[in-house]
Amino acid sequence: MTATVSEGVHDTSQIPAPEGSVTVTVKILRFNPEIDSEPHWESYDVPALPTDRVLNLLFNVKNYVDGTLAFRRSCAHGICGSDAMQINGVNRLACKVLVRDLLAKGGKPTTISVAPIKGLPTMKDLYVDMEPFFEAYRAVKPYLIAYGNEPTRERVQSPADRERFDDTTKCILCAACTSSCPVYWADGSYFGPAAIVNAHRFIFDSRDEGAEERLDILNDAEGVWRCRTTFNCTDACPRGIQITKAIQEVKRALLFKRV
Ligand code: SF4
Ligand code: FES
Repeated sequence: MTATVSEGVHDTSQIPAPEGSVTVTVKILRFNPEIDSEPHWESYDVPALPTDRVLNLLFNVKNYVDGTLAFRRSCAHGICGSDAMQINGVNRLACKVLVRDLLAKGGKPTTISVAPIKGLPTMKDLYVDMEPFFEAYRAVKPYLIAYGNEPTRERVQSPADRERFDDTTKCILCAACTSSCPVYWADGSYFGPAAIVNAHRFIFDSRDEGAEERLDILNDAEGVWRCRTTFNCTDACPRGIQITKAIQEVKRALLFKRV
């Protein structure tokens, strides 16, 4: 879908303006499948404190100007991964981006653009269908696989073995990485970085016995070899996961058949 530039002037006078706030223009890519054939930008002048998060501004638009504005969020603290969106063209969690980091220099007017993440179908406004993302996640078997009898005590692991996959345990499944990947935009059947990160988390777990199954899955035409190492994913990850490194480790495990 291509976005058209809009028009919309909205009365935002109902939004409370706390002391010390400045007015920022929040430009939101709106799309209502019931009435729109294309997404379009609409702008809202919103009072904002430097310490507000972009999520606060979206709530002010929704609560005081247009209750139909759709976006997903839950924890508001960077934990649940629900509110990945493009903020000024970059994939970010709306609950983690502070207004002060987006303010224009020298007191010039500030515009903050907010659009849905790319590569997943937009259902409404900033709300995308995550199902293709979770389908790829489920396909790599992101759970511990162990054969044989149940152990009678816990599965012991050394700190060094735990360290091997520590980074990839931090994923919150926000899709910021996968939806910033040009290979994924071009071909949605690519598993995408998040699925590979979550496969890595178990492939390199010394207690797991499913590494071979997962590596076979990722050796597929739509698997790990599609990665072109553009680093968009690593730049986008709100958890700071070294995604490209994890993907390289999975590729190496496939090449040398060694985990
Ligand atoms: S790897 Fe990072 S960017 Fe990708 S889904 Fe997990 S937390 Fe989000
Ligand atoms: S709302 Fe949970 S991560 Fe932003």
